[in-house]
Amino acid sequence: MSDFTADWLALREPADRRARHAGLCRQVRALLDRRPRLKVVDLGAGSGANLRFLAPLLARPQHWLLVERDAALLALAEALPRAGITPLVRDLARDLSGIGLEQADLVTASALLDLVSTPWLETLIAACRPTRALLHVALTVDGRVAWSPTDPEDEAVLAAFRRHQRGDKGFGPALGSEAAQTAERLLQRAGYQVRAARSDWQLGADEAALQEALLAGQADAAAEATSDLDVAGWQERRRAIIEAGDSRVRIGHRDLLAWRPS
Ligand SMILES: C[S@@+](CC[C@H](N)C(=O)[O-])C[C@H]1O[C@@H](n2cnc3c(N)ncnc32)[C@H](O)[C@@H]1O
Repeated sequence: MSDFTADWLALREPADRRARHAGLCRQVRALLDRRPRLKVVDLGAGSGANLRFLAPLLARPQHWLLVERDAALLALAEALPRAGITPLVRDLARDLSGIGLEQADLVTASALLDLVSTPWLETLIAACRPTRALLHVALTVDGRVAWSPTDPEDEAVLAAFRRHQRGDKGFGPALGSEAAQTAERLLQRAGYQVRAARSDWQLGADEAALQEALLAGQADAAAEATSDLDVAGWQERRRAIIEAGDSRVRIGHRDLLAWRPS
């Protein structure tokens, strides 16, 4: 089991699809243009959302190795036309060997990077560096959260939420909102060319279910990180605004593409 339920992943998938940076996706396709059949490794694949989004855009025969520690989530991923899949249940925090990085054309992940630590990221980059694989890492939260209308406690609660994001999520101390920038820096240092772009969620008043689930996640994490704030009161006020149909929220994300100059 993981902390990520199938319901949560299904709820967020439409917002993720809207948010992804189209220009980076086009560049992934262009950089892979001369490779007739692609081998893709998807890290922390969940129920296969990254596959569902990217496989049709790559538009050629491809094979995806979906690596995920939660077997139940992985069972929900289905093959798409032009894409064969191999599901692999694996705790990536323990071991990166035997997941096909050496043969990969593309190593990808979505909504994973904030969970990992700097040493883990360095190990991943060191494993990818001798290969010809591109790295495409989508939807990494970058710490920007803007609820509208605002509440006087937003800043304090969200600061506690961000502290919680830096706790150990199984990979060592998590990078949280520093993940995207750390990845860019480490990849550049390893000789990669890197292009990064914003891929923010912009949730409208009509997306109450996703807003409420997001709010609950932030409130639970903040309450774990501090007992000095009335997090439940904050959540209640925000929930009332969502239910009244007046709430909007922007969640900052970054997408990243890295490749080795040939
Ligand atoms: C936010 S979800 C994203 C899932 C999917 N990539 C998507 O975009 O819907 C993060 C995923 O990483 C997986 N994960 C977390 N820690 C992991 C680990 N140590 N090994 C393998 N998978 C892990 C979780 O089980 C979860 O499916």
